[in-house]
Amino acid sequence: MTCLPCKKISLEECNQLLQSSRLIRNGYLDRPKVLERDGMIIKFFYYDRLPRHRQVISLRGRRFIQRAFKLPSYGIKTIKPVQYMRCKARSCEIIVYPKMEGISVYESLVASFDPALFQRFAAYVAHLHDKGIYFKAGHSDNYLIDPKGDFLLIDVDNCRFTMYFLRRVKNLVYLIDHARGNQYDLYMRYGEDRFINDYLKCANIKPSKHKKFHDLIKKHLAAKGYYEKEINKKE
Ligand SMILES: Nc1ncnc2c1ncn2[C@@H]1O[C@H](COP(=O)(O)OP(=O)(O)OP(=O)(O)O)[C@@H](O)[C@H]1O
Ligand SMILES: [Mg+2]
Repeated sequence: MTCLPCKKISLEECNQLLQSSRLIRNGYLDRPKVLERDGMIIKFFYYDRLPRHRQVISLRGRRFIQRAFKLPSYGIKTIKPVQYMRCKARSCEIIVYPKMEGISVYESLVASFDPALFQRFAAYVAHLHDKGIYFKAGHSDNYLIDPKGDFLLIDVDNCRFTMYFLRRVKNLVYLIDHARGNQYDLYMRYGEDRFINDYLKCANIKPSKHKKFHDLIKKHLAAKGYYEKEINKKE
């Protein structure tokens, strides 16, 4: 059950929507993914065509809406879907939600390398985890900072509402490692240990587990080649 009714639209209606919107980002196979029109974000989720006998398809868009409606009940700000459509001919779901003012944590840190923002951000991630929220797609470009200075989640379809120690580790590894591909390696510059410590200061994790937490993150980062890059950088 989603909290928004699904409107079935034709191929013509879908094409019309695409033509009248501004493209922000293409996705896999260069298909339009994020668009904008009249202050609204229009997000496309594609699903694979399945043989007729298979009734169940995994609808990411539907999950996205469910998560977006559930997060506020945990006191977490996120986008607010207002329209849900599905176009069978294009095998896609379309969700419309207001474009928020503000920029992502990543954009903000690239524009101004602000240690205080790293600290606030680490505290916020700890807060999410303590509430039992695993924001799987949680790299710094999927957190927006709204005009009030509050954090807000986008890309919420993969959110989970169960948290455990290894998920905390995984989430921080993803966050830190994700920035690595971009020339401007934010966490390396700030210090990943420092960021983990900022997180641990706020997280509900026993002090006796702190060393294990650090060690596991480092082990996973090393497996991803994170430290090799650091050596290369110093050369
Ligand atoms: N509600 C919003 N308000 C403001 N900007 C937004 C909003 N939604 C998306 N954006 C902008 O569009 C960009 C891409 O959007 P989004 O993160 O939803 O797509 P994506 O990262 O390509 O998708 P996915 O992570 O599902 O593969 C964001 O980084 C952000 O700059
Ligand atoms: Mg994103």
